[in-house]
Amino acid sequence: MGFSAIFITKFSLGLVVTFANTEFAYNNLRFGYTCFLNATDFCIAKNKKMKITITGSLGNISKPLTKDLVQKGHEVTVISSKAERAKDIEAIGAKAAIGTMENTDFLAATFKDADVVYAMETLGNPRAFFDHDLDVTAAITEIGKNYKQAIEQSGAKKVIHLSSIGAHTNKGNGLLAFHYNVENILNELPGDVSVKFMRPVGFYYNMFAFIPTIKSHNAIFSNYGGDEIEPWVSPIDIASVISEEIEKPFHGRSIRYIASDELSTNEVAEILGNAIGKPDLKWIVIPDEQLLNNLLSAGMNPQTAKLFVEMNASRRGSVLYEDYFQHKPILGKTKVKDFAKEFAVMYNQ
Ligand SMILES: NC(=O)c1ccc[n+]([C@@H]2O[C@H](COP(=O)([O-])OP(=O)(O)OC[C@H]3O[C@@H](n4cnc5c(N)ncnc54)[C@H](OP(=O)(O)O)[C@@H]3O)[C@@H](O)[C@H]2O)c1
Repeated sequence: MGFSAIFITKFSLGLVVTFANTEFAYNNLRFGYTCFLNATDFCIAKNKKMKITITGSLGNISKPLTKDLVQKGHEVTVISSKAERAKDIEAIGAKAAIGTMENTDFLAATFKDADVVYAMETLGNPRAFFDHDLDVTAAITEIGKNYKQAIEQSGAKKVIHLSSIGAHTNKGNGLLAFHYNVENILNELPGDVSVKFMRPVGFYYNMFAFIPTIKSHNAIFSNYGGDEIEPWVSPIDIASVISEEIEKPFHGRSIRYIASDELSTNEVAEILGNAIGKPDLKWIVIPDEQLLNNLLSAGMNPQTAKLFVEMNASRRGSVLYEDYFQHKPILGKTKVKDFAKEFAVMYNQ
């Protein structure tokens, strides 16, 4: 049986045929691509049912990710901090594991036997930035340490880590330095643990924070902006990249940036303005000090506010995007124009 015959059989007829013990034997763990000799990097383990543990509950990324993985036939366990979430997790066909990212033994038990672990860090309290007793950088870094310990304890060998734009440095990027810290912690894992670092850019949903000043001043105020190009991303596109990476081979450590659209902030203001019936909506750049004062007046933790201002300032002159622009991804399909419809619904609520 020659190579071309196998190719025709699988691609033209869509049949799964095993040609065991031939030079071009079809590896039936991998479906949909020709898998022979050393070409396994081009193969996707599509029909191999995997056990996958997902952190981030039914959050913006984890919910579409879980739905997709369940639909692909995988056995998915979803970690949530709240017992009442279990029924929603089970309703989409996954198993619920109730516990927190702060509990290393719980994480280790939940990661045990997982073929792939998806690990993300977040802080349970949505008002965390306003907690004057909380060091956000230290708290997230601590979760990174928990993940490292839990991965080692559990024996998990394949990890997808939700990192971020800005994780390439801890200099001048404010809050984003915690992603640098966590990547470095996970990079200390033994060499037989493969880690894929996902670095999405700024999420579309951050734009919901613009609503109050659009309503009060018909403007968006920040310490960056103008005609410079900014990348943005949809959590749906992030979920789809992660789902794809879960099924692809793992080798050592790798980094992948994720973005959906690239537009200037002036263009963003125009699109959002048109979507909400305010075509004259403006994006106005204010000095760092003014933004800091605004955040402090709103009650933000002073240290967090300073890091927030620094993070946004690093967008000016694309300092934040230095590494991104050298490793630009193919853009996802959800554009700012698509998000603008969701934004309008939220704006009008
Ligand atoms: N915003 C951006 O521009 C940006 C850019 C790059 C990267 N990121 C990363 O993306 C992350 C957000 O992802 P996302 O939007 O998918 O998350 P999300 O929707 O905020 O969901 C996270 C979920 O995790 C659960 N959770 C919270 N604290 C927990 C804890 N201590 N232990 C266990 N579970 C906990 C919560 O669900 P339950 O209530 O069910 O527990 C929460 O809904 C950020 O944390 C950041 O690391 C963000």
